[in-house]
Amino acid sequence: MFDTKVYVERRNTLRKMFRTGLLLFIGNGESPMNYPSNAYRFRQDSTFLYYWGINYPDCAAVIDIDKDIECLYMNDVDIDDIIWMGPQEPVKEKGARAGVNSVYQLKDLFTSINSAVRLGRKIHFLPQYRQDSSEMLSTLLGIKSKHIRNYVSQKFIKAVVEMRSAKDEYEIEEIEKACNIGYKMHTAVMKMCKPGLMEYELAGTIEGITMANNGYISFPVILSQNVHTLHNHDHSQKLAENRMLITDAGAENEMNYCSDFTRTIPVNGKFTQKQKDIYSIVLQANSKTIELAKPDVTYKSIHLEIAKIITRGLCDLGIMRGNVDDAVENGAHALFLPHGLGHMMGLDVHDMENLGENYVGYDDEIVRSSQFGTSALRMGRRLQKNFVVTDEPGIYFIPELIAKWQSEKINRDFINYEKVSEYMDVSGVRIEDDLLVTENGCRLLGKKRIPVTVEEIEEIMKK
Ligand code: GLY
Repeated sequence: MFDTKVYVERRNTLRKMFRTGLLLFIGNGESPMNYPSNAYRFRQDSTFLYYWGINYPDCAAVIDIDKDIECLYMNDVDIDDIIWMGPQEPVKEKGARAGVNSVYQLKDLFTSINSAVRLGRKIHFLPQYRQDSSEMLSTLLGIKSKHIRNYVSQKFIKAVVEMRSAKDEYEIEEIEKACNIGYKMHTAVMKMCKPGLMEYELAGTIEGITMANNGYISFPVILSQNVHTLHNHDHSQKLAENRMLITDAGAENEMNYCSDFTRTIPVNGKFTQKQKDIYSIVLQANSKTIELAKPDVTYKSIHLEIAKIITRGLCDLGIMRGNVDDAVENGAHALFLPHGLGHMMGLDVHDMENLGENYVGYDDEIVRSSQFGTSALRMGRRLQKNFVVTDEPGIYFIPELIAKWQSEKINRDFINYEKVSEYMDVSGVRIEDDLLVTENGCRLLGKKRIPVTVEEIEEIMKK
């Protein structure tokens, strides 16, 4: 946990954004894998962690704005629990570390919320993404769980997004630690990778690296020779000569802060000319983002700028054609880049996505595009100092999408399908780094940059 004062100050800031009502926080419970006492690794809700820091299952908390009090609700363990789990810190002490003196048993939450409901008081709560939390809210509030989402507090969502978007100094330090674990993961892949290995040998190794650093993966590892499948969790293939391998993976450190990096490498350690052609365009796009990202610039404008770089590069190779601006305006680049440039990152790898992507990445000024490709951009709004965003452009050759566009004659003025067919075996390239927006620009997070140029990758793979 951070120092107690960090949580106290965060809650004080939050309270000042409300004039009346109760703010209700529901922590996560255990999630059984195959029977109740065999659970997945516990992951606390990120907003709960941010305001209370308490990383145990089955907690809840309330800030009563009108009465100016804060209460935590969590159960003390009994002797049966201690026999199986060993001695546990008493809930009073956990509460004290969060700066809260009023700590009650979970059943008392029901009494307290039921009474607020009876008095018709406003209860602010956030969107839920777990069925058991929805059921708990349903019982607390007397609303059917399928209707819970209709009653979430937009004011609460906006307040949390406002506070969690710009990272404080403690958070940046933790994200940086997660990035340093990411460096170890990706360089391990580069050093191990060779034809004949199985993808799962690499995927398992890097998952192990997160755990060997007292952390975990920040999302299931994406590692595959089918680079064109954007989020491929299948690791069953044998690594083959002349294929590319994508690793999109990051760590969550012991404080639950995340990293998220992608590198695409040639399995045999040496890029072919065609692989290099595509790789160079993507690296140019990734570098352009680093050059452009700074406070007050919209991430949507940078996304569109890198769409132009990709289009121009593909035009130079003869894969695309026509006027670059027109092609991007018509969304032709999205055949090769069907996703967005990046997303916010922090306690969640897609930070606060559970609160609603549009609250996090868009606002009244910058609205989400409805055009295929650009609509997948998660982060579009103006950057601010201490935002952490990913920079992850890519180019992919997705057989099914290419076949669909070709048969439906979509954007055919801008695409040379004959030339596209020559590049299908490249499969794709994505390059991703994590950026901290600074006073006048941005900087890469992590002590050392994961090898990224063709020369750096070939050099480390040679070793
Ligand atoms: N890097 C994985 C993702 O952004 O979803």
